[in-house]
Amino acid sequence: MQNFWSLLTKPFSILAPVDGYTDPAYRALVAEIAKPDVLVTEFVSADGLCSVGKEHLLQILRFTEAERPIVAQLFGAHPDNMERAAALVAELGFDGIDLNMGCPERIIVTQGAGADLIRQPGLAVKLIKATIRGAAGLPVSVKTRIGFGQNEVSTWIPSLLETGITALTLHGRTRTAMYSGTADWNAIAEAAKLAREAGVLVIGNGDVSSLEDGRVRARQYGTDGFMVARGALGNPYCFAEAFASTQPDLGLKLKAMTRHLELFARHLADARSFVTMRKHFVYYLRGYDNTKDLKMALMLATTAADVERLVQDFAKHRGIW
Ligand SMILES: Cc1cc2nc3c(=O)[nH]c(=O)nc-3n(C[C@H](O)[C@H](O)[C@H](O)COP(=O)(O)O)c2cc1C
Repeated sequence: MQNFWSLLTKPFSILAPVDGYTDPAYRALVAEIAKPDVLVTEFVSADGLCSVGKEHLLQILRFTEAERPIVAQLFGAHPDNMERAAALVAELGFDGIDLNMGCPERIIVTQGAGADLIRQPGLAVKLIKATIRGAAGLPVSVKTRIGFGQNEVSTWIPSLLETGITALTLHGRTRTAMYSGTADWNAIAEAAKLAREAGVLVIGNGDVSSLEDGRVRARQYGTDGFMVARGALGNPYCFAEAFASTQPDLGLKLKAMTRHLELFARHLADARSFVTMRKHFVYYLRGYDNTKDLKMALMLATTAADVERLVQDFAKHRGIW
């Protein structure tokens, strides 16, 4: 089996896993408009995939061929379930499996999963080994943070690098920092050096605002690739060369938003309520003047037809089309 990671041109770009956002509809949209080098699913519970709740989670793990290479992200704290979940993901035809060891949310940390694994390096290693066993030869990667309460790169990262993972994504914040302050790219550079010595690819993450910004940071801090999360929300043009350092105009954003509605209907409407689309609308309109009224009206929309009508009226009134 070909390991897709070894075929990527550096520095490569990745659409980050973002729970509730990088769902099958949004990934299909990004792949259609401006595809990054790699896409990752939202995180999915390994325990859930081994339970009766599996059917719903499988809906979140849908993907289209256009998204390849596509990586499924799993979280959990039970090696047996992780191995079974990895085997299931391999059967579904994914190109790789990523293990979440960075989620700071209480609901995840109190299960001993996500960022809590930074405090349990022994269990983290067992989970990785179980994933590799289940993965049937698919490359396994890890996404984590620079530490739990402080920078622990020098102790935490080496324990991961010896396990047989192919790539490591590092978000330059601690669990305690959650999403506040700025990402510490010097700590990412420290990890990049260790990863290079161990022959593991390293991906920097945190505050990347554009394709150009990602490329500059990768060069400056010595990472093989970069991953964009919040900067790519409501902006499926994020990985387009034409917008490598600028934002698309509002007309293009509104067109993408309308296309997103169609892809939601095709890929997700049976799994998630239309109301979950509202949070995307806020991101689409972020940074554009005089869109407050439209944002407020969109927050009340309950159908795609509502949104289309609001967007048409707005665009006509503003002379956008
Ligand atoms: C709402 C939200 C959901 C997220 N969900 C996930 C997830 O499912 N898996 C994961 O590894 N990281 C998740 N993250 C973290 C992002 O992937 C990323 O590491 C973080 O936002 C920093 O990158 P950024 O500065 O580009 O946003 C999430 C972040 C946010 C804001």
